[in-house]
Amino acid sequence: MSFTVSLYLDLAPRTDSFSDEVIRGLSGRPKTLPSKFLYDGRGSQLFDQICELEEYYPTRTEMSILSGNMPEILDALGQSAILIEYGSGTSTKTRLLLDNLTDADSYVPIDISREHLISASEHIQKSYPHLTVLPVCADYSQRIPLNLNPTPGSRITVFFPGSTIGNFEKKEAVDFMARLSSIVGPGGGVLLGVDLVKDVETLTAAYDDAAGVTALFNQNILMHINARMAGCFDPDAFMHRAVWNGSEQRIEMHLESQTRQTVELGDEVIEFEKGETILTEYSHKYTLESFAALAQEAGFTVDHVWTDPDALFSVQYLTAVTS
Ligand code: AVJ
Repeated sequence: MSFTVSLYLDLAPRTDSFSDEVIRGLSGRPKTLPSKFLYDGRGSQLFDQICELEEYYPTRTEMSILSGNMPEILDALGQSAILIEYGSGTSTKTRLLLDNLTDADSYVPIDISREHLISASEHIQKSYPHLTVLPVCADYSQRIPLNLNPTPGSRITVFFPGSTIGNFEKKEAVDFMARLSSIVGPGGGVLLGVDLVKDVETLTAAYDDAAGVTALFNQNILMHINARMAGCFDPDAFMHRAVWNGSEQRIEMHLESQTRQTVELGDEVIEFEKGETILTEYSHKYTLESFAALAQEAGFTVDHVWTDPDALFSVQYLTAVTS
């Protein structure tokens, strides 16, 4: 028996829009790259390795919060017919939910990394043969026309684990959450992971591990660009940096040019000063109060919060405010 799953929607960014976004980012001051481009096939694999690192506390903490509070979480969610997951990756955490959400009939994993998405979907299909798996390859910082047409009365739950909400700037986070509120509609909700503000040592170690996996993950964005745009980046000429920005309450990942250099990208030439950096990712951290304020701005109320004993991480259930 085979479990081939095909994409329900393929909205992966086309090559021209990929190049445009890269050139736009590298033409700005400071130079930036969209963090979603960290996730090609190799990037998704490296991210899975990060999740196993001793220093990277979010994954195991979130998993233990989910598995340690399952009856209460299911109670808050109610039964759900459709489960949509943003940034589904390997869908490991989803299994905790699918094992328990016995009424779920459809699972819609959304991810930008096509091969990773398809293989994860096939594994899920194999474990849950009765579930309709509808994978969507898309950049979810853009609006996605899902057209799911749920039967009246069936409830939609969005699962957004991993504190991926932290990768958005504050305003983008509010806009994104507001889109989720219209997707789940009245009666629906969002179960999401939110990483919490803590001491700087713990935070910086999580983004600059001793084994150097996060450094490879960060440098891999340059290899992804080389492959997609006939680029000439030497990833080793850029050093991984993880910096805590206290006033913005976020970790910033940078790639620091080790020399003065020029890099050809297709027809474009980009110049770097020695020590100049490319900002590749924000990872905002929240307090329970600052996140509740963000949720409220986006049209949600915080229905429930679960944390670990050390208050490193939170899992929250938000419901759309009906006015
Ligand atoms: C799961 C995508 C939110 O910001 O912590 C891990 C990505 N970057 N190490 C995070 C990431 C560097 C991660 N997200």
